[in-house]
Amino acid sequence: MAKNSLRNWQGVAAVIGVDWGDSGKGRIIDDLAQSAQIVARYNGGSNTGHTIENHFGKFALHIMPSGIFNPQSTCLIGRGVVCDLESLIDDEFIQLKKAGVSWKNLVIDEEASLTMPWHKQKDGLRENFRQSKIGTTARGVGPTYADRIERVGFRVADLYKKDFKKLLKDEIGFQNKHFNLKLSYGKILSQFQKYAKIIKPFIGQTVPLFQQSIKRGGNVLFEGAQGWLLDIDAGTYPYVTSSNTGVIGIWRSFDLHPQKINHVIGITKAYTTRVGAGPMPTKIIGSLRQLIIEKGHEIGTTSGRTRDPGWLDLVLLKAAVEVNGVNQLAFTKLDIFSTFKKIKICVGYKVGDKKVDYLSGNADFLSRCKPVFMELDGWEEDISKIRKFTLLPKAAQNYIKTIEKITNVPINFIGVGPRREEVIYV
Ligand code: IMP
Repeated sequence: MAKNSLRNWQGVAAVIGVDWGDSGKGRIIDDLAQSAQIVARYNGGSNTGHTIENHFGKFALHIMPSGIFNPQSTCLIGRGVVCDLESLIDDEFIQLKKAGVSWKNLVIDEEASLTMPWHKQKDGLRENFRQSKIGTTARGVGPTYADRIERVGFRVADLYKKDFKKLLKDEIGFQNKHFNLKLSYGKILSQFQKYAKIIKPFIGQTVPLFQQSIKRGGNVLFEGAQGWLLDIDAGTYPYVTSSNTGVIGIWRSFDLHPQKINHVIGITKAYTTRVGAGPMPTKIIGSLRQLIIEKGHEIGTTSGRTRDPGWLDLVLLKAAVEVNGVNQLAFTKLDIFSTFKKIKICVGYKVGDKKVDYLSGNADFLSRCKPVFMELDGWEEDISKIRKFTLLPKAAQNYIKTIEKITNVPINFIGVGPRREEVIYV
């Protein structure tokens, strides 16, 4: 299969989850960002948790693009991101400051919607009211997007409007009256006046910035949040997030046609995980579940919840590849499989006696799908020190090659450990 190495990538690249998220996007972005003039977030909000371990330390970023560790990259928070200033300023800036990492190269789009305190409260209230829980992270992401669609939300630029105080007071009055919230205008005003002052030097228009960079021949890297299977339109509604997680999200946030993305990199773990509710046909139960959770540290970066592990599901993966035009795959956490005697891959579904080989966004339908597995041999060796594909145990090579063959997409990045350097570029 023709390979197109990621080590010396050029042009426009996008890293999108071809799963339910939590695939290790932070670590690959941190690595690929070494060659990027622009690193841009286009969707999601502080529900995202990107874990990065590099020579500065270990970080859990939510809003901040993972390219922030390269002082040569300009990091953009696009208008399609819902901006949680509490997370950015009171958590992420502090993490970075402690490690001596500068964020002077950050630009937040003035049109990005702001997550306000009532969004977080309403996320929790709605979840408690639901008969069948979604498992939201309760970071206010859904309600912020809902307000944007309803054209009533605050955007970043509103913080600097002359009548901001009045707008805020009116909105808080509305929320308190109609939703019976006990919001304090004085407290929220002083909180957001403080935030407005801190982020003022970082506000701008992100679309022209990235367009100029492309014109100058710069490398641009888009950092997706969550994964395709949580997409608001394509995922198993209502067990989804509230944004477009795939390439369409880039178009919406940055006016960039997907055809102009040279490298659409679909990222997934060597197995899969899901956190929150919703169907997952290949879920692993029993002692193996516990082993993967422990070895893979499968605890949510944002929510602290345990993620459900499952075998890699190629029905879902192939659909994500097809719709997003993924032209290369990145696999993380292959090392977690070391010592497994057998490894399974889901190559189809059955509903009753009927074979099914397509993805449906219908949650009830997916919950009735039973996986059809292909079983492969595992390997005993520790692979975390290996940096060359041909030095991997034959069974590990076979696992990768089998997936490449079934998806017809090359796997160009194989993570064998959490640190930046623990990777095999193929
Ligand atoms: P929300 O977007 O926080 O409302 O959560 C909706 C669903 O998406 C829940 O099942 C969450 O667990 C899931 N979700 C949201 N963000 C992430 C993420 O970054 N990684 C994995 N799952 C996520």
